[in-house]
Amino acid sequence: MGIHVIVGGQWGDEGKGKIVDYFSDNADIVARYQGGANAGHTVFIGEDQFVLHQIPSGILREKTRCLLGAGMVIDPIELTREIEELQERGIRCNDQIGVAYNAHLVLPIHKILDGISEDANDEQFIGTTRRGIGPTYADRHGRIGVPAHLLLDRTGFEEAVQTHLRHANRIVEKIYGQPTHQFEEFREQLERAREAVSPLITDVSNEILTALDQDNHIITEGAQGVMLDLDYGSYPYVTSSHPGTAGVSVGLGVPPNAITRSTGIFKAYCTRVGEGPFPTEIDDKDKSVRLREAGGEYGATTGRPRRCGWFDGVLAKYSIAINGFTDICITKADVLSEFDEIPVAENYESQNGFLNVQKLDEVTPSFTNYPGWKTDISGATSFDEFPDAFQDYLAAIERISGAPISLVSVGPERNQIVVR
Ligand code: GDP
Ligand code: IMO
Ligand code: MG
Repeated sequence: MGIHVIVGGQWGDEGKGKIVDYFSDNADIVARYQGGANAGHTVFIGEDQFVLHQIPSGILREKTRCLLGAGMVIDPIELTREIEELQERGIRCNDQIGVAYNAHLVLPIHKILDGISEDANDEQFIGTTRRGIGPTYADRHGRIGVPAHLLLDRTGFEEAVQTHLRHANRIVEKIYGQPTHQFEEFREQLERAREAVSPLITDVSNEILTALDQDNHIITEGAQGVMLDLDYGSYPYVTSSHPGTAGVSVGLGVPPNAITRSTGIFKAYCTRVGEGPFPTEIDDKDKSVRLREAGGEYGATTGRPRRCGWFDGVLAKYSIAINGFTDICITKADVLSEFDEIPVAENYESQNGFLNVQKLDEVTPSFTNYPGWKTDISGATSFDEFPDAFQDYLAAIERISGAPISLVSVGPERNQIVVR
């Protein structure tokens, strides 16, 4: 059967949680392969809203095994809280969750450092989620991180955290001139989390390889989006991991050729949270506020208002090409129903030679206006029911971006999905 990869095609918040939940219906495994608690993935089941941060969205299906892969940076304190919150809501999830022994741990000092560096660095303020993502990945790459298997040995874990804290304190004090932190501040919280998370430690790679041998149905859930990729996004205004298809192999320890389907998720327009260039951002304040309010565009993790813009066909084409998406899903199409006309960026006028995604502040998109459909599509159940203008809009996205649309999401609820 192979692995079905689901990836955010834009700047994050495309509706991955909802789409992963849809595909998890008959999945044996749903695995996250990168990122951490910077993600906020929303699923609505009827009126009930669930926002998942580190636990894969497959957790809302009773029998699905939910794995947190080695490519993730895992915050054990937040993970414990997330599990408890789900349990309080009647989702008995403990024996469904597995944490890769070789994933790296986000410690309290990583979150403190994320905040300090954001507050200090006015010129290159990234607008991170302050979840300790950058500092933890930096330590992993610098080979001074704390891998998750250390949770299995209380003494070894404490020693590793203390050693790490001594190192981090030097940065806190010498570089930022801030007061240092002591292990005692975090001991109780960390020990509680260690007790909760250590029984979940597993070999994620091996679990997936075994499941592949048994022809199980395996889904991977990307966090963030392609334009936030460390190397292929709008660096330095990116996250510190690889949200795209290629991240799956190294993030889960599976061969690239085990991937048989890669689905890119795209909003029918664009949003971005945090700093950084955004070519199709709407300048007209009234229009952007209207789109934000119509789409409920506020961060699921930080509550920050999202910046809003029109569909960027140039970046969609790029995203599809570098990820090899076999198909794409268009979400939040219902949000555009109230607009008279809908611009789509088809080219960048000022692009010089090649598309340098690290210089998106220098491009000028040229837009084509598509007529709005001005009809409520949130109850549609088949493509045939879509108004002509909306079908034309979808056809334009396919033509510009170069990938077939397999699914259209027309509302936040689990069942508001139209399959082609
Ligand atoms: P993710 O990070 O990609 O999982 O996306 P988020 O959960 O951060 O943001 C997507 C938001 O849009 C959430 O509030 C979802 O409930 C909502 N949503 C998802 N799909 C649709 C849709 O088709 N229509 C509408 N109106 N809302 C949607
Ligand atoms: P989901 O999975 C949207 C953005 C932050 C910031 C940059 C770096 O819900 O789509 P980080 O905390 O990762 O160091 O922040 O990346 N960012 C996201 N934007 N959706 C997300 O996740 C994001 N995760 C990080 O706003 O610009
Ligand atoms: Mg989100």
